[in-house]
Amino acid sequence: MTPSFPERGRFITFEGGEGVGKSTQIALLSAYLQRRGLEVVVTREPGGTPKAETLRRALLSGLVKSFGPLAETALFAAARIDHIEKLIAPALRRGAWVLCDRFMDSTRAYQGENGGVNPQLMHWIEAASIGEAIPDLTLILDLDPHEGLLRAHRRRQTNEAPDRFEAEALSFHLALRRAFHDIAREHPQRCRVVDATAPVADVARIIQNYIDDRFFNDDKNFINREA
Ligand code: TYD
Repeated sequence: MTPSFPERGRFITFEGGEGVGKSTQIALLSAYLQRRGLEVVVTREPGGTPKAETLRRALLSGLVKSFGPLAETALFAAARIDHIEKLIAPALRRGAWVLCDRFMDSTRAYQGENGGVNPQLMHWIEAASIGEAIPDLTLILDLDPHEGLLRAHRRRQTNEAPDRFEAEALSFHLALRRAFHDIAREHPQRCRVVDATAPVADVARIIQNYIDDRFFNDDKNFINREA
């Protein structure tokens, strides 16, 4: 008898600047997909596995900042290798859907376009670290950085300092927004820019509609897991 393998799950990444509401939207999409009977794995970068979380602490505390953007790129890649190997790839193989808060486009935007790491080098490091773990869909939540930084500030406890990237100047965050728009233009099949200024429930509905159109409405892609 031929063994039946589960269909590979879908890999969806959420990207954008600071305070755009990724974690809220990920939680809402996760609940939406679970109501369809799907297994959903929610994760984040940098981090997602114990080893990658160790690197997260080093990166966000600013410990690595003085080594420069290329060294930061290398450490984000090291964390990503472990994350893919231990968590993302096994989940996709068993048919789970993976929702990841930031992934390779953050490296492209923060360290590449904004940090000035040579694009060819960026490309090699990315290709070597992610292999075939390319997202099926990337949702870029778009918000004016003035508003995003304000939201991030409100979210922090009063005694908590902004992390290494939040603490960058406004010009950095404005350039970041342009970088994400450039990425979306370069990869129109994979990326969707979502206006994150709307109320939470409206943004969630827009995202659910994208997901329905992309993965459930098309006969070719239709997955009836409840059957
Ligand atoms: P986090 O607290 O998760 O921020 P946010 O809620 O905005 O997602 O911190 C992650 C920070 O790391 C964020 O400022 C973006 C930055 N980052 C990079 O610079 N490069 C990367 O490759 C990744 C994954 C994140």
